[in-house]
Order: sequence, then structure tokens, then C-alpha cells
Amino acid sequence: MSKLKIAVQKSGRLHDDSMKILNDVGISIDNGKDQLKASAGNFPLEVFYLRNGDIPQYLRDGVVDAAIIGENVLIEKGSDILIVEKLGFSKCRVSIAIPKSSTYKGISDLSGKRIATSYPNTVRQYFEKNGLELDLHIINGSVEIAPNIGLADAICDIVSSGSTLFKNNLKEVEILFSSEAVLASSPLINVEAQQILNQLQFRIKSVLKGRQSKYILLNAPDDKLEDIIKILPGMKSPTVLPLAKEGWSSVHSVLNKNEFWEIIDELKQNGAEGILVCPIEKMVL
Ligand code: PRP
Repeated sequence: MSKLKIAVQKSGRLHDDSMKILNDVGISIDNGKDQLKASAGNFPLEVFYLRNGDIPQYLRDGVVDAAIIGENVLIEKGSDILIVEKLGFSKCRVSIAIPKSSTYKGISDLSGKRIATSYPNTVRQYFEKNGLELDLHIINGSVEIAPNIGLADAICDIVSSGSTLFKNNLKEVEILFSSEAVLASSPLINVEAQQILNQLQFRIKSVLKGRQSKYILLNAPDDKLEDIIKILPGMKSPTVLPLAKEGWSSVHSVLNKNEFWEIIDELKQNGAEGILVCPIEKMVL
């Protein structure tokens, strides 16, 4: 039986969340990341643990059918590769930063400056698009140190919490793009692997939707039900069940976790009591 070969970052910021999403969709992986590859016990999947920067080429060559990878890496090395699903974790931005002490009036200040980066294609494109002169210094790690040791006037790298910039006395002056982990597929994927990828994507969508949502249960006096139901969005409409106590009902619904606190306040003001909020593991729509 054919299997879907999926690349996952061997180590680094995406690894743990990549394994977590596979686990959350019910796929258990048999052995750890010390192996180059591992099989899933209960899903036709083989996981290849690879270096981040190598994954676009493995996808392009069809060595793997799919990958969980940062958009930033695809933009740098694999703009021809199809993004199947955004995964909502490992969010960061690719930015240009300069020493805190440098003045900055606008993007034209970067023209002709020495830029240290491990994202040469990204920087080249950005400078070309903005008609700026580029003096590129390609380095593979610890990019943020470059201005402090006199190697560059500015850097281009990923920024997540911003603490690496802060520690190196740098300030972010231009955001080139935002990035997050994505599920991507090989242009050479065969029909069987594509079908398995579709199943995996379906499961992932259910988990992501669940992560975005909360299940809410509350008690409401019957004379306030109409107002309370108007406040609740729900998947179709809220479930309303009579309570043992006469004149009261239990209302169940699903909320977007971002709107959650505002809606709770409104519910309370409209007479809702005993509000319970629970996480949702999966939402199959
Ligand atoms: C990345 C990047 C920055 C840092 C930014 O390195 O190169 O150094 O994260 O994150 P922050 O804004 O939260 O400080 P990473 O730790 O992923 O390892 P890398 O050097 O292998 O890219």
C-alpha cells in the first residue's frame, strides 16, 4: 500500500508544533527524530526528518510528497512549490533591522548599505522591487551579530518575539512579509499520495478549526432566551434544552476564541448564568 512521504523539520522552531499537529490529527509516529525517517502506526504516512533549508529541493525532486515548512523558507527557496494549507503556528516576519543608534527616514536609506542575511533571494527581490542598490553579505547563522562586528550595516532575518533584535541592539525598520508554518506539496506528487494528502488536510482543517473555537454552555431564564440566542453565533444555531428547574434552559453553542470575552460580557448583561467554556478538539464541517 502506498504511503505519503512527508518532510518535517529535524530540529528548530517548527519541529515540536509539526509533530504536535500530526499527533492531534490522530497519527502516532513510531520512532523519534534521531532516525532519518519514521512510520506512522495508524495512517499511511512516512515522516522524513530533514534540514529546513533542504526541504524545498526534496519537494521539487519528488523525494518527499509533502512537507510542513515555514513560508519564509518557501519564499526564499521554493516559490514554485504549492502551499496546501496554512497551519497557524510558528508565526514570524521576515524583516530588515539596523542598529538602534542609526537614523532611519525611509526605505531609500537602505540603498547601497551592506545587508547580512541568510535570505539572499528574498532580499534581492525586495531591493529590486524598490529600485535600491544592494551590497549583499550571505551568512548562515547568527546574522544579528553582523552589524556589531562591523560586517554589515543592516540585517534581514526572521523576527518572532523580537528578543534577538533587542539583545543585539537592533531595530526593525522594514517588514518584508509575514510567515507561518504551512503544509506544502511536491509538484511530482502521484495520485495515491495526493489522496492521502487530501485526507491529512481534511483532518488538519478540523483540528485548526477546533483550535480557533470554544464550546460554550450556559443557563438562561426562558424570558431572556431570545436575546441570548441573538448574541450567540453558533455553527447553525444554538442548541436549547430545558433545565429541570422550570422557566430555565441550557444553551450550547460554539464561539470564535477571538470574540470570546466580548460575547461573554454581553451574555452576562443579558441574564446568562453558569457559563462554562470548553476547548474543542476537532470540528468537522
Ligand atoms: C531565528 C532567527 C533569529 C531568531 C528570531 O533563529 O534567525 O535569530 O530566530 O527570533 P526572536 O525574534 O523570537 O528572537 P532560530 O532560533 O530559529 O535559529 P536559526 O539561527 O537556526 O535560524
